[in-house]
Amino acid sequence: MKNIKTVGILTSGGDAPGLNAAIRALCMVGSQKYGFKFVGVRNGYRGLIDGDCFRMDNFDFSNMISLGGTILGTSRVKPFKNPVPDPKTGLLPIEGIQNTFKKFKLDALVCLGGNGTNTTASLLAQSGFNVIGLPKTIDNDIVGSDETFGFRTAIEVATNGLAGIRTTAKSHSRAMVVEIMGHKVGWLGLYAGVAGNADVILLPEIPYDIKKIAAFLKEKAQKGQNNYIIACSEGAMDIEEAKLGKKEFKKVRAEMQQSIAFRVAKEIEQATGIETRASVLGYIQRGGNPNAYDMVLATKIGSAAADFIAERKFGNLVAVQGGQIAAVPLEQVAGKVKNIPMDDPLLLTARSLGICFGD
Ligand code: F6P
Repeated sequence: MKNIKTVGILTSGGDAPGLNAAIRALCMVGSQKYGFKFVGVRNGYRGLIDGDCFRMDNFDFSNMISLGGTILGTSRVKPFKNPVPDPKTGLLPIEGIQNTFKKFKLDALVCLGGNGTNTTASLLAQSGFNVIGLPKTIDNDIVGSDETFGFRTAIEVATNGLAGIRTTAKSHSRAMVVEIMGHKVGWLGLYAGVAGNADVILLPEIPYDIKKIAAFLKEKAQKGQNNYIIACSEGAMDIEEAKLGKKEFKKVRAEMQQSIAFRVAKEIEQATGIETRASVLGYIQRGGNPNAYDMVLATKIGSAAADFIAERKFGNLVAVQGGQIAAVPLEQVAGKVKNIPMDDPLLLTARSLGICFGD
């Protein structure tokens, strides 16, 4: 079996705080403990197809643990989805990837990313490449891993956002619907909603009934409350939408033009008469530097990735289970999404606190 000498690294999908900390740990442990050389791949799978890579031999890792974004750049390119030949080279994506592996003498590849990235990593592993996946995303939706780096930082940012919005909600006696990222899952909405003292939390996992939300807010108003925070996951949907098929749902959303928070704000104002505004927290949730928790988590995962390579644990995700590093086959991760289970402890706690979920 060929010894592992050179390892490629790419970051793909939406960026997340902690990517650079993971890259740093992977390179430091990989070179110091195992003598690996590293090659950085620019802009995710785009760079892997195009051979847009650079040797990281003399890379300066100082200050990288705390640096946000990704020094490698990223893209949402999926080489296995509708593959077409490159107009310039005439090569299929997989042929471009084979050439890059040859040109840079890559013995292994580490892919840092979320669901899409790890699905592609799984397909690369099935195509015979030595691949390892790392769980990065503010959405915390990767099956097989309790945690993903980026998530805790995003909770903090979103929680601070909710706190800021509460003060203006109070001044104006308003309801504020605050849209929180998370793609098709509600982890970020749930955690930030609880930490940010939201009155209502809307999650994709729990389709909402506007009548229930209105009744809840009116009751609070009768008791003297005059400002309300509705933490609304970007993937939240109502009970009617929940019945739709994927295509119909997409159509309804495309027709909406504005994002979900604006619709919920309108619905609340109409149903309650309470003046309501919408606010989208947006990309600040995944921009900026990682918090200390994510710096440490990403460092642990990056370091473990170097061990995985040395132990030839290819075709696996470097997952976290019960606080320990675990190897989870990428094919068990690919194409799946980790939703909030209805018996999630924080969800149950939130219900006990009296937070309304619109159900
Ligand atoms: O996956 C991270 C994430 O920020 C999601 O929360 C969000 O739905 C999506 O990426 C936004 O993607 P884009 O950067 O392509 O707009």
